[in-house]
Amino acid sequence: MKVLHVAAEVFPLVKTGGLADVVAALPVALAEQGADVRLLLPGLPQVLEAVQAARVVVDIGACFGAVRVRLLLARMPHSQLPVYVVDAPYLYRRGGSPYQDSLGQEWPDNLQRFALLGWVAAHLAADDADPAWVPDIVHAHDWHAAMACAYMAQHVPTAARSVFTVHNLAFQGLFSMHDWPMLGMPSELLSAAGLEFHGQLSFMKAGLQFAHHITTVSPTYAGEIATHEFGCGLDGVIRSRGTHVSGILNGIDTEVWNPATDPAIAQRYDSERLQGKAVCRLALQRELGLQTDGQALLLTIVSRLTAQKGLDLLLAALPEMLQAGVQLAVQGTGEPALEAAFRMAQQAHPGRVHVHIGYDEARAHRLVAGADAILVPSRFEPCGLTQMYGLRYGTLPIVRRVGGLADTVQDVGDAQDTGFVFDAATPQELLRAVLRAVEAQREGQAWQARVASAMAQELSWAQPASDYLDLYQALLSS
Ligand code: ADP
Ligand code: GLC
Repeated sequence: MKVLHVAAEVFPLVKTGGLADVVAALPVALAEQGADVRLLLPGLPQVLEAVQAARVVVDIGACFGAVRVRLLLARMPHSQLPVYVVDAPYLYRRGGSPYQDSLGQEWPDNLQRFALLGWVAAHLAADDADPAWVPDIVHAHDWHAAMACAYMAQHVPTAARSVFTVHNLAFQGLFSMHDWPMLGMPSELLSAAGLEFHGQLSFMKAGLQFAHHITTVSPTYAGEIATHEFGCGLDGVIRSRGTHVSGILNGIDTEVWNPATDPAIAQRYDSERLQGKAVCRLALQRELGLQTDGQALLLTIVSRLTAQKGLDLLLAALPEMLQAGVQLAVQGTGEPALEAAFRMAQQAHPGRVHVHIGYDEARAHRLVAGADAILVPSRFEPCGLTQMYGLRYGTLPIVRRVGGLADTVQDVGDAQDTGFVFDAATPQELLRAVLRAVEAQREGQAWQARVASAMAQELSWAQPASDYLDLYQALLSS
Protein backbone atom coordinates (compact mmCIF):
# COMPACT_ATOMS: atom_id res chain seq x y z
CA MET A 1 0.00 0.00 0.00
CA LYS A 2 1.41 3.38 -1.03
CA VAL A 3 0.79 6.17 1.48
CA LEU A 4 1.66 9.86 1.08
CA HIS A 5 1.84 11.98 4.25
CA VAL A 6 1.42 15.69 3.60
CA ALA A 7 2.40 18.23 6.26
CA ALA A 8 4.01 21.61 6.84
CA GLU A 9 6.43 20.56 9.57
CA VAL A 10 8.53 17.58 10.58
CA PHE A 11 10.87 17.07 13.55
CA PRO A 12 13.78 17.85 13.72
CA LEU A 13 13.85 20.01 10.57
CA VAL A 14 10.89 22.32 11.22
CA LYS A 15 8.86 22.22 14.42
CA THR A 16 6.35 24.53 16.06
CA GLY A 17 4.59 21.86 18.12
CA GLY A 18 3.59 18.23 18.48
CA LEU A 19 2.50 18.01 14.83
CA ALA A 20 6.17 17.86 13.81
CA ASP A 21 6.82 14.97 16.21
CA VAL A 22 3.88 13.02 14.79
CA VAL A 23 4.88 13.64 11.17
CA ALA A 24 8.41 12.42 11.98
CA ALA A 25 7.38 9.24 13.77
CA LEU A 26 4.08 7.94 12.32
CA PRO A 27 5.31 7.46 8.71
CA VAL A 28 8.35 5.54 9.98
CA ALA A 29 6.11 3.30 12.11
CA LEU A 30 3.84 2.69 9.09
CA ALA A 31 6.86 1.77 6.97
CA GLU A 32 8.04 -0.65 9.67
CA GLN A 33 4.66 -2.39 9.36
CA GLY A 34 5.07 -2.82 5.62
CA ALA A 35 3.52 0.29 4.04
CA ASP A 36 5.33 2.07 1.21
CA VAL A 37 5.37 5.57 2.74
CA ARG A 38 6.55 8.92 1.41
CA LEU A 39 6.30 12.45 2.75
CA LEU A 40 5.39 15.66 0.94
CA LEU A 41 6.74 18.88 2.49
CA PRO A 42 6.99 22.53 1.44
CA GLY A 43 10.53 23.52 0.45
CA LEU A 44 11.26 25.64 3.53
CA PRO A 45 14.96 26.53 3.89
CA GLN A 46 15.53 24.02 6.74
CA VAL A 47 13.98 21.23 4.65
CA LEU A 48 16.00 21.99 1.53
CA GLU A 49 19.20 22.09 3.57
CA ALA A 50 18.58 18.84 5.42
CA VAL A 51 17.18 16.41 2.85
CA GLN A 52 19.65 14.20 1.04
CA ALA A 53 20.25 13.34 -2.62
CA ALA A 54 17.48 15.53 -4.00
CA ARG A 55 16.62 15.17 -7.69
CA VAL A 56 14.02 16.95 -9.79
CA VAL A 57 10.94 14.81 -10.49
CA VAL A 58 9.07 17.41 -12.49
CA ASP A 59 9.45 21.04 -13.36
CA ILE A 60 5.98 22.41 -12.69
CA GLY A 61 6.77 25.94 -13.84
CA ALA A 62 4.71 28.95 -12.74
CA CYS A 63 1.75 28.55 -10.37
CA PHE A 64 0.15 30.10 -7.28
CA GLY A 65 2.06 33.31 -7.86
CA ALA A 66 5.50 31.69 -8.04
CA VAL A 67 7.40 31.74 -11.32
CA ARG A 68 9.39 28.59 -10.60
CA VAL A 69 7.96 25.52 -8.90
CA ARG A 70 9.70 22.17 -9.00
CA LEU A 71 8.92 18.87 -7.35
CA LEU A 72 12.01 17.22 -5.84
CA LEU A 73 12.42 13.68 -4.52
CA ALA A 74 14.96 13.17 -1.74
CA ARG A 75 15.48 11.22 1.48
CA MET A 76 14.87 12.29 5.06
CA PRO A 77 18.15 12.69 6.95
CA HIS A 78 17.62 10.17 9.76
CA SER A 79 14.92 7.75 8.70
CA GLN A 80 15.96 7.77 5.02
CA LEU A 81 12.25 7.82 4.17
CA PRO A 82 11.60 9.15 0.64
CA VAL A 83 10.36 12.75 0.74
CA TYR A 84 8.88 14.92 -2.00
CA VAL A 85 9.75 18.57 -1.55
CA VAL A 86 7.85 21.37 -3.27
CA ASP A 87 10.63 23.77 -4.22
CA ALA A 88 8.99 27.15 -4.80
CA PRO A 89 11.58 29.74 -3.72
CA TYR A 90 9.24 32.71 -3.97
CA LEU A 91 6.72 31.10 -1.60
CA TYR A 92 8.81 29.05 0.80
CA ARG A 93 12.43 30.20 1.00
CA ARG A 94 12.16 32.69 3.82
CA GLY A 95 12.98 32.94 7.53
CA GLY A 96 10.48 33.00 10.40
CA SER A 97 8.16 30.09 11.11
CA PRO A 98 6.32 28.10 8.44
CA TYR A 99 3.20 30.18 9.12
CA GLN A 100 4.39 33.55 10.42
CA ASP A 101 7.10 36.11 9.88
CA SER A 102 9.68 36.93 12.54
CA LEU A 103 7.28 39.46 14.13
CA GLY A 104 4.61 36.82 14.57
CA GLN A 105 2.36 38.05 11.75
CA GLU A 106 0.76 35.42 9.49
CA TRP A 107 2.45 35.39 6.09
CA PRO A 108 0.02 37.36 3.89
CA ASP A 109 0.29 34.78 1.09
CA ASN A 110 -0.44 31.70 3.20
CA LEU A 111 -3.40 30.91 0.95
CA GLN A 112 -1.10 30.42 -2.05
CA ARG A 113 1.63 28.74 0.04
CA PHE A 114 -0.62 26.02 1.44
CA ALA A 115 -2.99 25.68 -1.52
CA LEU A 116 0.11 24.80 -3.56
CA LEU A 117 1.06 22.08 -1.06
CA GLY A 118 -2.39 20.46 -1.34
CA TRP A 119 -2.51 20.91 -5.12
CA VAL A 120 0.81 19.08 -5.57
CA ALA A 121 -0.44 16.26 -3.29
CA ALA A 122 -3.54 15.89 -5.45
CA HIS A 123 -1.42 15.76 -8.61
CA LEU A 124 0.79 13.06 -7.07
CA ALA A 125 -2.42 11.12 -6.38
CA ALA A 126 -3.57 11.68 -9.97
CA ASP A 127 -0.37 10.18 -11.40
CA ASP A 128 0.61 13.22 -13.45
CA ALA A 129 3.31 14.53 -11.08
CA ASP A 130 5.29 11.31 -10.58
CA PRO A 131 3.85 8.40 -12.61
CA ALA A 132 6.55 6.14 -11.08
CA TRP A 133 4.89 6.32 -7.62
CA VAL A 134 1.18 6.96 -7.21
CA PRO A 135 -0.25 6.84 -3.68
CA ASP A 136 -3.31 4.80 -2.73
CA ILE A 137 -3.80 6.97 0.34
CA VAL A 138 -3.12 10.68 0.75
CA HIS A 139 -2.92 11.49 4.46
CA ALA A 140 -3.09 15.25 5.09
CA HIS A 141 -2.26 16.83 8.45
CA ASP A 142 -4.05 19.94 9.75
CA TRP A 143 -5.29 22.89 7.69
CA HIS A 144 -1.89 23.37 6.05
CA ALA A 145 -2.37 20.20 4.00
CA ALA A 146 -6.18 20.12 3.95
CA MET A 147 -6.58 21.48 0.41
CA ALA A 148 -5.21 18.15 -0.83
CA CYS A 149 -8.59 16.61 0.07
CA ALA A 150 -10.56 19.31 -1.78
CA TYR A 151 -8.40 19.16 -4.91
CA MET A 152 -8.62 15.37 -4.95
CA ALA A 153 -12.41 15.52 -4.68
CA GLN A 154 -13.10 18.40 -7.03
CA HIS A 155 -10.30 19.10 -9.37
CA VAL A 156 -8.05 16.20 -10.18
CA PRO A 157 -9.45 12.75 -11.00
CA THR A 158 -7.87 10.07 -8.80
CA ALA A 159 -8.71 6.69 -7.33
CA ALA A 160 -6.72 7.47 -4.18
CA ARG A 161 -8.49 7.91 -0.84
CA SER A 162 -7.86 10.86 1.43
CA VAL A 163 -7.45 10.89 5.21
CA PHE A 164 -7.42 14.21 7.04
CA THR A 165 -6.04 14.35 10.58
CA VAL A 166 -7.10 17.23 12.82
CA HIS A 167 -4.27 17.98 15.23
CA ASN A 168 -5.82 21.21 16.44
CA LEU A 169 -9.21 22.51 15.33
CA ALA A 170 -8.44 25.96 16.76
CA PHE A 171 -6.04 26.74 13.90
CA GLN A 172 -8.21 26.84 10.80
CA GLY A 173 -6.45 28.54 7.91
CA LEU A 174 -8.99 31.32 7.27
CA PHE A 175 -8.60 33.59 4.23
CA SER A 176 -10.43 36.39 2.50
CA MET A 177 -13.12 35.44 -0.01
CA HIS A 178 -11.43 37.84 -2.44
CA ASP A 179 -8.66 35.29 -2.89
CA TRP A 180 -11.06 32.56 -4.04
CA PRO A 181 -10.13 32.83 -7.77
CA MET A 182 -6.56 31.83 -6.93
CA LEU A 183 -7.71 28.38 -5.82
CA GLY A 184 -9.10 27.34 -9.20
CA MET A 185 -12.13 25.68 -7.61
CA PRO A 186 -15.68 25.50 -9.02
CA SER A 187 -17.70 28.48 -7.78
CA GLU A 188 -20.43 26.29 -6.27
CA LEU A 189 -17.93 25.57 -3.48
CA LEU A 190 -17.95 29.21 -2.50
CA SER A 191 -20.87 28.36 -0.21
CA ALA A 192 -21.59 26.93 3.21
CA ALA A 193 -21.63 23.45 1.62
CA GLY A 194 -18.10 24.10 0.42
CA LEU A 195 -15.26 26.14 1.90
CA GLU A 196 -17.16 29.20 3.09
CA PHE A 197 -17.03 29.82 6.85
CA HIS A 198 -18.70 32.97 8.22
CA GLY A 199 -17.77 35.07 5.21
CA GLN A 200 -14.24 33.69 4.86
CA LEU A 201 -12.57 30.70 3.21
CA SER A 202 -11.58 27.89 5.55
CA PHE A 203 -8.91 25.37 4.63
CA MET A 204 -9.79 23.37 7.74
CA LYS A 205 -13.32 23.08 6.41
CA ALA A 206 -11.97 21.88 3.07
CA GLY A 207 -10.39 18.94 4.88
CA LEU A 208 -13.49 18.27 6.96
CA GLN A 209 -15.86 18.39 3.98
CA PHE A 210 -13.85 16.52 1.39
CA ALA A 211 -11.62 13.95 3.09
CA HIS A 212 -12.86 10.39 2.69
CA HIS A 213 -12.15 9.98 6.40
CA ILE A 214 -11.26 12.35 9.24
CA THR A 215 -9.21 11.35 12.23
CA THR A 216 -8.22 13.26 15.33
CA VAL A 217 -5.30 12.52 17.58
CA SER A 218 -7.24 11.01 20.50
CA PRO A 219 -10.62 9.29 20.84
CA THR A 220 -11.85 11.79 23.46
CA TYR A 221 -11.03 14.77 21.23
CA ALA A 222 -12.92 13.08 18.37
CA GLY A 223 -16.03 13.19 20.54
CA GLU A 224 -15.32 16.69 21.85
CA ILE A 225 -15.00 18.39 18.45
CA ALA A 226 -18.53 17.31 17.59
CA THR A 227 -19.78 19.53 20.44
CA HIS A 228 -20.43 23.25 20.58
CA GLU A 229 -17.90 23.68 23.42
CA PHE A 230 -14.90 22.31 21.50
CA GLY A 231 -16.08 22.50 17.88
CA CYS A 232 -14.70 26.01 17.13
CA GLY A 233 -17.79 26.67 15.00
CA LEU A 234 -17.19 23.54 12.91
CA ASP A 235 -19.00 21.02 15.13
CA GLY A 236 -21.98 20.96 12.75
CA VAL A 237 -19.74 20.02 9.83
CA ILE A 238 -18.06 17.37 11.97
CA ARG A 239 -21.37 15.89 13.11
CA SER A 240 -22.53 15.79 9.49
CA ARG A 241 -19.60 13.46 8.67
CA GLY A 242 -21.02 10.85 11.08
CA THR A 243 -18.94 7.69 11.26
CA HIS A 244 -16.33 9.15 8.92
CA VAL A 245 -14.75 10.78 11.98
CA SER A 246 -12.71 8.76 14.47
CA GLY A 247 -9.90 9.16 16.97
CA ILE A 248 -6.57 7.35 17.00
CA LEU A 249 -4.37 8.17 19.98
CA ASN A 250 -0.89 9.44 19.10
CA GLY A 251 2.16 7.51 20.19
CA ILE A 252 5.56 8.99 20.99
CA ASP A 253 8.98 8.31 19.54
CA THR A 254 10.24 5.89 22.18
CA GLU A 255 13.79 6.12 20.85
CA VAL A 256 14.04 9.91 21.02
CA TRP A 257 12.28 9.85 24.41
CA ASN A 258 13.99 7.03 26.28
CA PRO A 259 15.55 7.66 29.70
CA ALA A 260 17.73 4.54 29.30
CA THR A 261 19.57 5.93 26.26
CA ASP A 262 18.92 9.71 26.37
CA PRO A 263 22.22 11.51 25.63
CA ALA A 264 20.86 14.84 26.93
CA ILE A 265 20.35 13.88 30.59
CA ALA A 266 22.78 13.81 33.55
CA GLN A 267 22.43 10.06 34.15
CA ARG A 268 20.50 7.45 32.22
CA TYR A 269 17.95 5.33 34.03
CA ASP A 270 15.08 2.91 33.68
CA SER A 271 12.38 1.53 35.97
CA GLU A 272 14.85 -0.97 37.47
CA ARG A 273 17.54 1.63 38.13
CA LEU A 274 15.77 4.75 39.34
CA GLN A 275 18.84 6.17 41.16
CA GLY A 276 19.68 7.82 37.84
CA LYS A 277 16.50 9.86 38.06
CA ALA A 278 17.57 11.26 41.44
CA VAL A 279 20.89 12.27 39.86
CA CYS A 280 19.01 14.03 37.04
CA ARG A 281 16.82 15.81 39.62
CA LEU A 282 19.76 17.18 41.58
CA ALA A 283 21.61 18.15 38.40
CA LEU A 284 18.52 20.03 37.22
CA GLN A 285 18.11 21.91 40.50
CA ARG A 286 21.79 22.95 40.30
CA GLU A 287 21.54 23.92 36.63
CA LEU A 288 18.48 26.10 37.25
CA GLY A 289 19.66 27.59 40.54
CA LEU A 290 16.76 26.01 42.45
CA GLN A 291 17.29 25.12 46.13
CA THR A 292 18.68 21.59 46.28
CA ASP A 293 15.67 20.53 48.30
CA GLY A 294 15.18 16.77 48.39
CA GLN A 295 11.61 17.04 49.73
CA ALA A 296 10.09 19.53 47.30
CA LEU A 297 7.73 18.38 44.57
CA LEU A 298 9.70 19.57 41.53
CA LEU A 299 7.12 20.37 38.91
CA THR A 300 7.94 21.11 35.28
CA ILE A 301 6.13 22.60 32.30
CA VAL A 302 7.41 22.42 28.71
CA SER A 303 4.85 24.13 26.56
CA ARG A 304 3.72 26.75 24.15
CA LEU A 305 2.58 29.60 26.40
CA THR A 306 -0.92 30.13 25.00
CA ALA A 307 -4.49 30.29 26.28
CA GLN A 308 -5.04 26.68 25.12
CA LYS A 309 -2.58 25.38 27.68
CA GLY A 310 -4.42 26.75 30.77
CA LEU A 311 -1.27 28.19 32.32
CA ASP A 312 -3.14 31.18 33.72
CA LEU A 313 -4.73 28.67 36.13
CA LEU A 314 -1.27 27.70 37.31
CA LEU A 315 -0.23 31.34 37.79
CA ALA A 316 -3.31 31.92 39.93
CA ALA A 317 -2.62 28.85 42.09
CA LEU A 318 1.14 29.40 42.30
CA PRO A 319 1.44 31.15 45.69
CA GLU A 320 -0.41 28.33 47.47
CA MET A 321 1.52 25.70 45.56
CA LEU A 322 4.83 27.22 46.66
CA GLN A 323 3.62 27.36 50.25
CA ALA A 324 3.00 23.62 50.05
CA GLY A 325 6.65 23.13 49.11
CA VAL A 326 6.41 22.92 45.31
CA GLN A 327 9.29 23.97 43.05
CA LEU A 328 8.50 25.00 39.49
CA ALA A 329 10.64 24.84 36.34
CA VAL A 330 9.02 26.25 33.21
CA GLN A 331 10.25 26.31 29.62
CA GLY A 332 8.15 27.83 26.87
CA THR A 333 7.48 30.58 24.41
CA GLY A 334 4.28 32.21 23.29
CA GLU A 335 1.93 35.02 24.21
CA PRO A 336 3.84 38.06 25.54
CA ALA A 337 1.51 38.49 28.54
CA LEU A 338 2.10 34.90 29.71
CA GLU A 339 5.84 35.16 29.10
CA ALA A 340 5.92 38.34 31.23
CA ALA A 341 3.82 36.77 34.00
CA PHE A 342 6.16 33.78 34.22
CA ARG A 343 9.23 36.03 34.26
CA MET A 344 7.69 37.94 37.16
CA ALA A 345 6.96 34.69 39.00
CA GLN A 346 10.64 33.78 38.78
CA GLN A 347 11.68 37.20 40.10
CA ALA A 348 9.21 36.95 42.96
CA HIS A 349 10.32 33.44 44.01
CA PRO A 350 14.04 33.01 43.42
CA GLY A 351 15.29 29.52 44.19
CA ARG A 352 11.74 28.09 43.99
CA VAL A 353 10.64 29.07 40.48
CA HIS A 354 12.77 28.95 37.34
CA VAL A 355 11.52 30.16 33.99
CA HIS A 356 13.26 29.85 30.64
CA ILE A 357 11.55 31.73 27.84
CA GLY A 358 12.90 29.93 24.83
CA TYR A 359 12.83 26.77 22.77
CA ASP A 360 15.43 24.09 23.47
CA GLU A 361 15.00 20.37 22.78
CA ALA A 362 17.91 19.07 24.89
CA ARG A 363 16.86 21.23 27.81
CA ALA A 364 13.30 19.86 27.49
CA HIS A 365 14.75 16.36 28.00
CA ARG A 366 16.63 17.49 31.13
CA LEU A 367 13.47 19.06 32.56
CA VAL A 368 11.35 15.99 31.91
CA ALA A 369 14.00 13.66 33.35
CA GLY A 370 14.80 15.77 36.42
CA ALA A 371 11.32 16.79 37.54
CA ASP A 372 9.06 14.75 39.81
CA ALA A 373 5.89 15.74 37.98
CA ILE A 374 4.85 17.46 34.76
CA LEU A 375 1.84 19.77 34.65
CA VAL A 376 -0.50 20.05 31.64
CA PRO A 377 -3.63 21.97 32.74
CA SER A 378 -4.98 22.59 29.21
CA ARG A 379 -8.39 24.09 28.46
CA PHE A 380 -8.46 21.78 25.45
CA GLU A 381 -5.83 19.31 24.29
CA PRO A 382 -6.26 17.27 21.09
CA CYS A 383 -3.66 14.79 22.30
CA GLY A 384 -0.69 16.32 24.11
CA LEU A 385 2.72 14.71 23.98
CA THR A 386 4.56 16.08 27.00
CA GLN A 387 2.41 14.16 29.50
CA MET A 388 3.42 10.99 27.61
CA TYR A 389 7.09 12.01 27.78
CA GLY A 390 6.49 12.41 31.53
CA LEU A 391 5.01 8.91 31.84
CA ARG A 392 7.97 7.40 30.03
CA TYR A 393 10.44 9.21 32.31
CA GLY A 394 8.59 8.36 35.53
CA THR A 395 7.68 12.05 35.89
CA LEU A 396 4.06 11.85 36.93
CA PRO A 397 1.62 13.93 34.87
CA ILE A 398 -0.85 16.28 36.56
CA VAL A 399 -3.42 16.99 33.85
CA ARG A 400 -6.92 18.24 33.20
CA ARG A 401 -9.42 15.57 32.12
CA VAL A 402 -9.76 16.73 28.53
CA GLY A 403 -8.89 15.38 25.05
CA GLY A 404 -5.84 13.18 24.84
CA LEU A 405 -4.84 14.01 28.41
CA ALA A 406 -7.92 12.06 29.58
CA ASP A 407 -6.97 9.17 27.29
CA THR A 408 -3.35 8.85 28.47
CA VAL A 409 -3.29 9.59 32.21
CA GLN A 410 -5.07 7.51 34.85
CA ASP A 411 -5.86 8.48 38.41
CA VAL A 412 -7.20 6.69 41.48
CA GLY A 413 -10.26 4.70 40.47
CA ASP A 414 -8.90 3.86 37.01
CA ALA A 415 -7.29 0.49 36.30
CA GLN A 416 -3.82 1.75 37.20
CA ASP A 417 -3.06 5.21 38.48
CA THR A 418 -0.21 6.87 36.63
CA GLY A 419 -0.82 10.50 37.50
CA PHE A 420 -3.24 13.09 38.85
CA VAL A 421 -6.30 14.25 36.92
CA PHE A 422 -8.65 17.15 37.65
CA ASP A 423 -11.88 18.25 35.99
CA ALA A 424 -12.85 21.91 36.25
CA ALA A 425 -10.58 24.50 34.61
CA THR A 426 -10.18 26.48 37.84
CA PRO A 427 -7.13 27.37 39.94
CA GLN A 428 -8.77 25.63 42.91
CA GLU A 429 -9.14 22.31 41.11
CA LEU A 430 -5.62 22.51 39.74
CA LEU A 431 -4.32 23.28 43.23
CA ARG A 432 -6.22 20.34 44.70
CA ALA A 433 -4.58 17.98 42.19
CA VAL A 434 -1.11 19.39 42.89
CA LEU A 435 -1.65 19.05 46.65
CA ARG A 436 -2.70 15.42 46.14
CA ALA A 437 0.59 14.91 44.29
CA VAL A 438 2.54 16.55 47.15
CA GLU A 439 0.78 14.23 49.58
CA ALA A 440 1.41 11.13 47.48
CA GLN A 441 5.09 11.99 47.13
CA ARG A 442 5.43 12.24 50.92
CA GLU A 443 3.85 8.81 51.30
CA GLY A 444 6.70 7.40 49.23
CA GLN A 445 5.51 3.91 48.38
CA ALA A 446 2.29 4.91 46.64
CA TRP A 447 4.31 7.37 44.57
CA GLN A 448 6.81 4.69 43.56
CA ALA A 449 3.94 2.43 42.53
CA ARG A 450 2.59 5.16 40.24
CA VAL A 451 6.04 5.74 38.78
CA ALA A 452 6.34 2.03 38.00
CA SER A 453 2.91 1.94 36.30
CA ALA A 454 3.69 5.13 34.38
CA MET A 455 7.00 3.83 33.07
CA ALA A 456 5.39 0.51 32.08
CA GLN A 457 2.69 2.19 29.95
CA GLU A 458 2.80 1.28 26.25
CA LEU A 459 3.28 4.56 24.37
CA SER A 460 5.01 3.57 21.13
CA TRP A 461 3.63 4.14 17.65
CA ALA A 462 3.18 0.39 16.99
CA GLN A 463 -0.53 0.24 17.91
CA PRO A 464 -1.55 3.61 16.40
CA ALA A 465 0.28 2.76 13.16
CA SER A 466 -1.53 -0.57 12.98
CA ASP A 467 -4.86 1.26 13.56
CA TYR A 468 -4.07 3.69 10.72
CA LEU A 469 -3.21 0.77 8.42
CA ASP A 470 -6.57 -0.86 9.23
CA LEU A 471 -8.30 2.42 8.44
CA TYR A 472 -6.46 2.79 5.11
CA GLN A 473 -7.35 -0.80 4.21
CA ALA A 474 -11.01 -0.25 5.04
CA LEU A 475 -11.09 2.90 2.90
CA LEU A 476 -9.48 1.14 -0.05
CA SER A 477 -11.92 -1.75 0.07
CA SER A 478 -15.01 0.47 0.50
P1 ADP B 1 1.26 21.35 21.01
O1 ADP B 1 1.50 20.65 19.73
O2 ADP B 1 -0.16 21.77 21.22
O3 ADP B 1 2.22 22.47 21.26
P2 ADP B 1 2.15 18.84 22.23
O4 ADP B 1 2.23 18.44 23.65
O5 ADP B 1 1.49 17.91 21.30
O6 ADP B 1 1.50 20.29 22.21
O7 ADP B 1 3.60 19.02 21.61
C1 ADP B 1 4.49 20.01 22.02
C2 ADP B 1 5.86 19.59 21.56
O8 ADP B 1 6.69 20.74 21.53
C3 ADP B 1 6.52 18.60 22.48
O9 ADP B 1 7.43 17.82 21.74
C4 ADP B 1 7.26 19.53 23.46
O10 ADP B 1 8.34 18.90 24.08
C5 ADP B 1 7.72 20.61 22.50
N1 ADP B 1 7.94 21.93 23.11
C6 ADP B 1 7.01 22.87 23.38
N2 ADP B 1 7.59 23.97 23.87
C7 ADP B 1 8.92 23.72 23.92
C8 ADP B 1 10.08 24.47 24.35
N3 ADP B 1 9.96 25.71 24.79
N4 ADP B 1 11.28 23.88 24.23
C9 ADP B 1 11.40 22.62 23.76
N5 ADP B 1 10.37 21.87 23.36
C10 ADP B 1 9.14 22.40 23.43
C1 GLC C 1 -1.52 19.71 18.19
C2 GLC C 1 -2.24 19.61 19.53
C3 GLC C 1 -1.61 18.62 20.48
C4 GLC C 1 -1.20 17.35 19.79
C5 GLC C 1 -0.33 17.66 18.58
C6 GLC C 1 0.12 16.41 17.83
O1 GLC C 1 -0.51 20.63 18.19
O2 GLC C 1 -2.37 20.88 20.15
O3 GLC C 1 -2.52 18.32 21.52
O4 GLC C 1 -0.50 16.51 20.67
O5 GLC C 1 -1.04 18.46 17.70
O6 GLC C 1 -0.96 15.67 17.32
